[in-house]
Amino acid sequence: MDRYVVVGNPVAHSLSPRIHARFAAELGERIEYATLEAPPDGFRAAALAFFASGGRGANVTLPFKVEAFELAEHASDRARAAGAANFLARRGDRIEADNTDGAGLVTDLRDNLRVALAGARILLVGAGGAARGVVAPLLAERPRALVIANRDVERAKSLAHRFAAAGPTSATSLDAADGGTYDVVLNATSASTLGEPLPLPDAVFRPGMLAYDLAYGAAAAGFVARAKARGARASDGLGMLVEQAAESYFLWRGRRPATAEVIAGLRAPAP
Ligand code: ATR
Repeated sequence: MDRYVVVGNPVAHSLSPRIHARFAAELGERIEYATLEAPPDGFRAAALAFFASGGRGANVTLPFKVEAFELAEHASDRARAAGAANFLARRGDRIEADNTDGAGLVTDLRDNLRVALAGARILLVGAGGAARGVVAPLLAERPRALVIANRDVERAKSLAHRFAAAGPTSATSLDAADGGTYDVVLNATSASTLGEPLPLPDAVFRPGMLAYDLAYGAAAAGFVARAKARGARASDGLGMLVEQAAESYFLWRGRRPATAEVIAGLRAPAP
């Protein structure tokens, strides 16, 4: 049976094994997909041992996405643009890296939440690894503007500059982020995961727009509630998680699973 893992630390509560089990069942395939917790300084050894033992592919989550990119002998354009990989596959005798996070976000926004990204004014909050991974896929949808807001504004400027050739990027500080009118506001900061408040002006949220947190569940709850209180439509990133998994499954196995029921199943309260 083909073996896959999600490598992270911590990783015990990852939903990826459940998601991939659902995909395999839906497509009538048999795979094994488990969690693999690597020690903070032990990603490389754990990943290499997994592939040496015959493993076919790995998803990679925090804090190892940059190391996963560096480990691979070949990286896709989108992994190179992100400087990070959430996907590894053994192809022949080499390990290849890709990044399916941005594609997962775009698919969830465009196909599941029905947001028109072409021509949209997008505010991307955050300029760390999570933000960097989604800039190029968002720009490929041809928004009218992609404004990057960050607490450290120099980081926002440097990210906007890095992708300037790919589309209409610009930068702003967090406290001035309400200077524009946006169709979509994306939270790609780690503030809520760290249990810290996000000093983003409430005025960025307004009716008719979508506020979206790339995190899901409890980590996204504060951002989602703030946006809804101001009349915006809001979603956490559970759909992005499932869509990046579907893209991973497709890259590994050549078949694309349907996602709607998997997302609905994960949202349903436990029996
Ligand atoms: P990740 O890989 O999750 O993106 P990261 O690269 O450490 O992690 O980036 C974290 C992001 O969250 C950054 O944009 C960071 O802002 P700074 O660049 O100014 O540090 C942002 N962030 C984290 N905690 C925050 C907080 N309390 N308020 C605002 N932004 C925060």
